[in-house]
Amino acid sequence: MTKSTYNELINDSLVHQSVTERLEDFGGKNRIELDNELISLILDLYNDDQDFPYQKIRKFSMGDILAYLQATHRYYLTKKLPEIEQSLLHIFSKYGQTHELLAELCLFFNEYKNDLVEHVKMEEREFFPYIKKLMKASAGEYTKAEIAELLNSASISQFTEHHDSIEDELKEVSQIIHRYSPVERPPMPYRVFLNQVEFFELELRKHAIIEDHVLVPMAVELEAQLRASL
Ligand SMILES: [Fe+2]
Ligand SMILES: [Fe+2]
Repeated sequence: MTKSTYNELINDSLVHQSVTERLEDFGGKNRIELDNELISLILDLYNDDQDFPYQKIRKFSMGDILAYLQATHRYYLTKKLPEIEQSLLHIFSKYGQTHELLAELCLFFNEYKNDLVEHVKMEEREFFPYIKKLMKASAGEYTKAEIAELLNSASISQFTEHHDSIEDELKEVSQIIHRYSPVERPPMPYRVFLNQVEFFELELRKHAIIEDHVLVPMAVELEAQLRASL
């Protein structure tokens, strides 16, 4: 992504809206309350992840970080993906079968969606529950035998080994579109679609940074403490 597109995407109010929106429950009842300082640190991360002060964000509880990540998962699956699909449908209704790249684009996006849903589900099914158990163990809710069993059953390193950068695959969308129109600018609906996809790619990248550089180190520390306590 060029610097100027990046700046266009990092429109502060857009990012702010996107980050606060995910904390809303769409029925409006279960709003997730997060510390304002944590929210503003997350917003900073969207602006700059090079010199980001990870230590500052690590002072928040793992419970808060998990709540944020889970709200983000829900937001991706129930809001962002459907929005992007809607754009694709719009393009389809406009150009129907006349554009060859549409079939390729739809095929790619469907496969991508399946991969992303699987990625998120694995985290919700295995990664996060294991971390929640580590938290319970460290809060004194488990016996030593139970802690030993928990630490034998899984490990953070198992998850990190398989934690792939799912956002990288999204670059393919821009390649498909540009392959189709290498010289002229793609028609407007494609550019809108591409913008949405590029913003989503950025979203996923920031999300993965919080998982890999905030949540994982905290969980590894907790694991080590629990292991030492046996
Ligand atoms: Fe995730
Ligand atoms: Fe992830």
